[in-house]
Amino acid sequence: MGKNIVEEKNKMVEERVEELLSQMTLKEKIGQLHQAGTTMNCALPGFEADIDKWVSEMLQGKLAKEELDRRLSMCEEDLREKEVMAGEQGSFINLYEDEKLAKVLDNAKKSRLQIPLLIGVDVIRGYRTMFPTPLAMSCSWDMEVIRQMAHVAKREAWESGVNWTFGPMLDIARDARWGRIVESPGEDPYLASRIAETQVIEFQKEEADGCRLLATAKHFLAYGAVRGGQDYDTVDMSERQMFETYLPPFRAAVDAGVGSVMSAFHDLNGVPCTMDKWLLTDVLRDELEFDGFVVSDAEAVKQCVVHGAVEDEKEAAKRTILAGGDMDMASGDYSRHLEELVLEGELEEAVIDNAVRRILRKKLEFGMFERNYVYDPERLKQVILSPEHRKAALEAGKRSAVLLKNDGVLPIKSNIKRILVTGALADDKQELMGPWSFTGRTEAQVTILQGLQEYAADGVEVEYMRGCEVEEQGTEGWEACFAKAKKADIVIAVAGEKAFMSGEAASRADLQLAGRQEEFLLKLAELGTPLAVVLVNGRPLAIGKLKEHIGVRAILESWHLGTEFGHAVADILYGNYNPSGKLSVTFANEAGQEPMYYNHPNTGKPGSDFKFTSKYQDVSIEPLYPFGYGLSYTSFSYDELYIENLSLSMEDTLRCSVQVTNIGNMAGEEVIQLYIRDVTASCVRPVKELKRFRKVYFEPGETKKIKFEIPVAQMGFYNRNCEYIVEPGEFRLYAGPNSAEGLEEKYEVK
Ligand code: NOJ
Repeated sequence: MGKNIVEEKNKMVEERVEELLSQMTLKEKIGQLHQAGTTMNCALPGFEADIDKWVSEMLQGKLAKEELDRRLSMCEEDLREKEVMAGEQGSFINLYEDEKLAKVLDNAKKSRLQIPLLIGVDVIRGYRTMFPTPLAMSCSWDMEVIRQMAHVAKREAWESGVNWTFGPMLDIARDARWGRIVESPGEDPYLASRIAETQVIEFQKEEADGCRLLATAKHFLAYGAVRGGQDYDTVDMSERQMFETYLPPFRAAVDAGVGSVMSAFHDLNGVPCTMDKWLLTDVLRDELEFDGFVVSDAEAVKQCVVHGAVEDEKEAAKRTILAGGDMDMASGDYSRHLEELVLEGELEEAVIDNAVRRILRKKLEFGMFERNYVYDPERLKQVILSPEHRKAALEAGKRSAVLLKNDGVLPIKSNIKRILVTGALADDKQELMGPWSFTGRTEAQVTILQGLQEYAADGVEVEYMRGCEVEEQGTEGWEACFAKAKKADIVIAVAGEKAFMSGEAASRADLQLAGRQEEFLLKLAELGTPLAVVLVNGRPLAIGKLKEHIGVRAILESWHLGTEFGHAVADILYGNYNPSGKLSVTFANEAGQEPMYYNHPNTGKPGSDFKFTSKYQDVSIEPLYPFGYGLSYTSFSYDELYIENLSLSMEDTLRCSVQVTNIGNMAGEEVIQLYIRDVTASCVRPVKELKRFRKVYFEPGETKKIKFEIPVAQMGFYNRNCEYIVEPGEFRLYAGPNSAEGLEEKYEVK
């Protein structure tokens, strides 16, 4: 769009915002700041619908399942028609049932000013067609695949009436104990920033028919650093660390024009993020120049009281909005207390006006006023889970899996006629969907067993024995499975985590395979039949024993690959696709080594064989698998790392190239990674920092010279005063297939 047109459009939006604002009552204004879900009304006399409580009681054995069902059958969903029509609710959260969604959108049209609703949904990895988990997709290092995810998700969600996604999640995650690592873009700020801008641009880009979603960068800030990897816990960190490691993906999202930011649950250096003025105003608005609106995380306004940071919910509402929190997600405290605060003179109405402006602006900019949503099941059928969408999910799936180990047993050779698939997860649609797939369609899920059966060549028999459960201790069926395994040509064992073992509120102190899965796999490995393990999990696991055992001939880290999971795995195992994923997170040997990440400072006593160095006594100082690692069915050699300009001024750009050759006999893609190290600086620098990468396709025998450029301005860091500076001195440059291997050169910044 030309500059003049943009200016003209902005002017029109501003005029419209002011015009609306001038007509709004205080109640209507507050309505715009209030987001809620549907509720339940219970028709049973003496009962208030408290489904969370009932379900917990049922799980604790305090309530019979039959009683729970009886109560639920007497509950009816309340779409908050009254509030919406009165203009007292401006947004819904996680409403993704088609007809209901259409109904609430329609209700808003019956309100006095007909201000449309924001329908915010966690469209994290697809809407109905599920793509791989965000962590898995970050392992593709393939921005086109990630763009396609956002494109398909946008189309399916928008056609269903959704106009706002609570994504991308941009928390740098360096601790596998944290369950939400599965939603994250991994441990590296540079890779995460590229993912952030790719998703924000694609979600928000307007298609010819107006299709677009407002995006949310979340969770602001440093949620991935919660103490001990325990969800919702506290974060205490230096500002330097915050700016250098945790802020970059948010900066990238803001630079890409993200319309909303979600503040995080935890307290950061003693202040809950939800009510942190320094964070939400000084950093986000003043430093990053964010011009959208801030939404709290679910019930986080109310939680300021629980944190012990304010006395009551009224104070929480006041402090939160004054800090820069524009919308209250689900706690109801804005809607309960803001009016009173204004009437008592405790809060200036102008504060509310500003928050309303920010929200109305986005509703206008994103065309929500013009949209006349009509629920049309026939049209939805054409769009949802269309062959084209499933194909995009399959491509993403294939590119996200990471081959961790392979002695040549994969791809499965043509002389293999009997394949035994085992493991409880192998044929479980629900569990294979993985976390953050509420909006998905279980019936559409392709299981690993299904995929392997469907894609098997003629004459190949694929049998299934359930074998080992995920968490349970029983060993029923093991012996029968071993007997079958002995007769098979290859065993494909699927192991890992059920869907809800990672994700929100799913932290774990132990990173071993749950239940008796490891024991089962090691027994299988002793049988003499080639064994390939397919891991289904949300977090890096401590799988050292599988790595070491020569009977485990291959390990494919498949994470959760989405609706087309089974087809993606089958394509990889049968060799129709040459795996190209590379880890976006380090695999530690043991949970006790977490947080383990590649871009750590050197320390004064870097870990080595010598006792008095930085390490644990009982595990290797090397990670189990380093950041950036992943095998292919072919091999790549790296030669001739060449720097064009070895001595650079502050204004210069480093130009370099590296020669990469596919030395195997299968075509494949390689992620070529470029790292730097600032050797001496006034603040201790990481041993390596990712600065560039490219995923490139090679024919067998093909050599390519891969060129990169890095402006010197991007080689700096935050000093003790939290100022960004580039310091002169010696630097190292590394080009390689992962963070632990590759070629090295020196250069100098003057
Ligand atoms: C809580 C989660 O932290 C956040 O990521 C999500 O968007 C909201 N719930 C809404 O589901």
